[in-house]
Amino acid sequence: MAYPYQIKSLEEYQQNYQQSVMDPEGFWANVADHFYWRRKWDKVLEWNFKDPDVKWFTGGKLNITENCLDRHLGTLGNTPAIIWEPNDPEEHHRVITYRDLYNKVCQFANVLKNNGVKKGDRVCIYMGMIPELAIAVLACARIGAIHSVVFGGFSAQSIADRIQDAQASLVITCDGAFRGNKDIPLKSVIDDALIGCPSVKKVIVCTRTRTPVSMIKGRDLWWEDEIKQVETMGNPPCPAEEMDAEDMLFILYTSGSTGKPKGVVHTCGGYMVYANYTFVNTFQYQPGEVYFCTADVGWITGHSYIIYGPLSAGATTLMFEGVPTYPDAGRLWSIVDKFRVNILYTAPTAIRSLMGYGLGPVNHKDLSSLRKLGSVGEPINEEAWHWFKDHIGKGRCPIVDTWWQTETGGIMITPIAGVTKEKPGYATLPLPGIQPILVDEKGEEIKGNNVNGNLCIKFPWPGMLRTTYGDHERCRTTYFATYDNLYFTGDGCLRDEDGYYRITGRVDDVLNVSGHRIGTAEVENAINMHAGVVESAVVGYPHDIKGQGIYAYVITERQTHDPELTKKDILQTVSRIIGPIAKPDKIQFVSGLPKTRSGKIMRRILRKIAEGELDNLGDTSTLLDPAVVEEIKRSRL
Ligand code: WTA
Repeated sequence: MAYPYQIKSLEEYQQNYQQSVMDPEGFWANVADHFYWRRKWDKVLEWNFKDPDVKWFTGGKLNITENCLDRHLGTLGNTPAIIWEPNDPEEHHRVITYRDLYNKVCQFANVLKNNGVKKGDRVCIYMGMIPELAIAVLACARIGAIHSVVFGGFSAQSIADRIQDAQASLVITCDGAFRGNKDIPLKSVIDDALIGCPSVKKVIVCTRTRTPVSMIKGRDLWWEDEIKQVETMGNPPCPAEEMDAEDMLFILYTSGSTGKPKGVVHTCGGYMVYANYTFVNTFQYQPGEVYFCTADVGWITGHSYIIYGPLSAGATTLMFEGVPTYPDAGRLWSIVDKFRVNILYTAPTAIRSLMGYGLGPVNHKDLSSLRKLGSVGEPINEEAWHWFKDHIGKGRCPIVDTWWQTETGGIMITPIAGVTKEKPGYATLPLPGIQPILVDEKGEEIKGNNVNGNLCIKFPWPGMLRTTYGDHERCRTTYFATYDNLYFTGDGCLRDEDGYYRITGRVDDVLNVSGHRIGTAEVENAINMHAGVVESAVVGYPHDIKGQGIYAYVITERQTHDPELTKKDILQTVSRIIGPIAKPDKIQFVSGLPKTRSGKIMRRILRKIAEGELDNLGDTSTLLDPAVVEEIKRSRL
């Protein structure tokens, strides 16, 4: 496949950027022209950020799977679409060509149809990282069902919340998932989740771990049996459902600073164009290259850069079931060596944790196939950046530090590999079509260079979220009401003397733990559900490997006899309510929390204490009871 919209030089980047600002509609129409549309759009863009109401390619008709599969069959039918590496290195890997993938997606799409799934229905997917996960996602898209993938680390309660919010009618899961030396009983978690989910009529279970599972008559079906049925029907084709450009493609739940996670909604046309454009440009993908993204499909990175971006570009995408440290800390490098990986896209937290094992696991691995490296999910510290550059890229490979969000659908600010001059710790420059601005607390634009502010985007881009599922008002208040006429990212940002952007981290109450977004309020709610807990306050603190750790201050009804056991109980509760990823790293029991006279917890102070900045707590004059702070300082962990 050729990519006529692939930027090849800095001059070309600057020209494209200029054009994308002067004539956004013309710019994106040129890109969108290179996709397969059943019917071309009437209008490229209609928008206002007040409601918000954003529509791209209105009147356009398409199916994203025809762009990811059908259109490649003629030229790339025998090219690997997915290379799958299992958790256990002794188990055989799988290579799925574009033709295989097409057949499997059609087959499973027919399974969904046989089970009554129709366009617009919501399907919850809770699976491990096996090819069937990608097949399930694409099969939904094929028939116009809206997928909601839930990361395999979330608890039954979290899944139930997401299923109920979306009113999903079908769940696709596995008996279990292998991750390192763990075997996660996915189906049994789903069984717990479904106790309170009457909307779910069917559960399709794919075999992976052969963990014993209970199968409920009339509700639960085996993936393999359902496929056999389609085979006995003679494997009929499954024509793609014609979708409107603005029909929903998927929902992906993400944490915010308040309340329950919200369902970020992406639509078919704009998302497809944006995921593809950003993939092809950021990584400078060349036909034939093997591309390996270590994310999980349960997160947006997996949606956009394991599945939709690469497949729509006819790329070979490598999917890895396991974890970077199993069976040893050289696993990622072994995979690069084994499959001659050319592009590696991973997270700072993985790099930092692998750095800790020294160069032993890297030595003797042939990494000479690598050409481009990428990082995503959190700020990458300079030490990790250099380690990645020197020891993995051997100084030859550009690193793209890609800043973006679940809500943005695709990469927003990033170097273009080999084109943009990089600077460690900087996401550098916006891609064409992206108009970032920095504002102060009042929403006044901060112009010029060498300035710090809150990062907003002032013009729509095709991959942006359209709404939050079932609650448009929440979308408005969260992203479009803080500052007039701007999309607010929630991130703080520096623009340096070169006009380069450096993301400094969240400015709201959202934590970024190992690249996972977790709302402090969510963790507090979970802790507060534990019997005996009166109140809690959760803040982040710098953590060497995870980037941020979770620090919880907890007030209990009475003093516990065995504080260590109570801590473990609280961790257990958080695991049950949210999932293990939200477990606090530190729990400090306190008798009170620093509050203002109006009862607001002064998190700023708690954050400082957690960070160990005890002497510089700032203004404490509005505190109701300053003695509380002294006590918390004394018993700090
Ligand atoms: C953070 C992940 C610094 C940021 C794709 C953002 C980053 C949040 C970077 C979104 C980066 C992501 N440098 N920070 N390169 N990439 N972030 O929705 O705080 O899981 O708002 O999307 O991660 O996390 P999300």
